[in-house]
Amino acid sequence: MSELSRIGVAIDSDLLDKFDQLIGERGYTNRSEAFRDLIRDELVEKSWESPESPVVGTVTLVYDHHVRMLSDKLMDLQHDFHRSILSTLHVHLDHDNCLEVLVVRGKAGAVRKIADALISTKGVKHGRLTITTSGAELK
Ligand code: NI
Repeated sequence: MSELSRIGVAIDSDLLDKFDQLIGERGYTNRSEAFRDLIRDELVEKSWESPESPVVGTVTLVYDHHVRMLSDKLMDLQHDFHRSILSTLHVHLDHDNCLEVLVVRGKAGAVRKIADALISTKGVKHGRLTITTSGAELK
């Protein structure tokens, strides 16, 4: 583990009160871990900016499987990108609706392209790409 550094931060009291309330609601037991998570989140987000950066993420899709050819289209797309899709989870939410979660890994630009292609497919009701980190470069 790398060396710990201690820093002092000057912050408006009202802002700090709001921050303490927020992190309390989220279950943090101390400010340090909340600050570290904020910093990590910014660093991970920064890493997506370069299309060449290696990232991992998930694509979440909700769609009606009765829409004509939609399941086939989504499956074809997934096969087109099979090298970047590590795993998929399919849940039948009700009689009509399906939820799919795909775990993706690759360069940021390629991962975005896959997500855009799937989410923009006609009939997909909602989709979201979440990019995270492999964790290797974060302490
Ligand atoms: Ni289903």
